[in-house]
Amino acid sequence: MLKHSTNGESENYMETTQQIELRKLAQLDVDAIELYEAAIQRISVPLLRDKLSEFRTDHEQHVVNLNAELVKTGGKAIEAKPDLKGTVLRGFTAVTSMMGDHAALLAMTANEELTNRAYEKALKIDWSSSQRELIQQNYDDEKRHLAWIKMAAKEKPWEHESQASVH
Ligand SMILES: [Fe+2]
Repeated sequence: MLKHSTNGESENYMETTQQIELRKLAQLDVDAIELYEAAIQRISVPLLRDKLSEFRTDHEQHVVNLNAELVKTGGKAIEAKPDLKGTVLRGFTAVTSMMGDHAALLAMTANEELTNRAYEKALKIDWSSSQRELIQQNYDDEKRHLAWIKMAAKEKPWEHESQASVH
């Protein structure tokens, strides 16, 4: 089985390809949670905030289930500690206070495209059937997030809502 040493870890701890992938995905989900926090704080529309909070919870669940799998395989769980500098460097788009709701949604679309690609790529390595099922379930969540955010960015349902309440 392919094994890799981990930087900064004891030499006795060698990670398998699967553990490396689980760890990468878990870190990606941790970083995504941080981006969701930023977006939720800055978005003013209740409908969007509620939906983004729901998606953030999915990402939290992914960290839990990926960490559980890491431990099950004899690996180490990652700390749920985001590294925002690392996050930006790894291609996520920051949501800034200068952004309006729509721009923030576009930023989150780009971020969800990143997590979607990571899960899609992860499915290409060898997994046990239960591991594959886990990764696929998380990926299904990611697809759902991306589809909803894209729809919301395009159709701006909150604008229709406010128009409806005016008339
Ligand atoms: Fe997501």
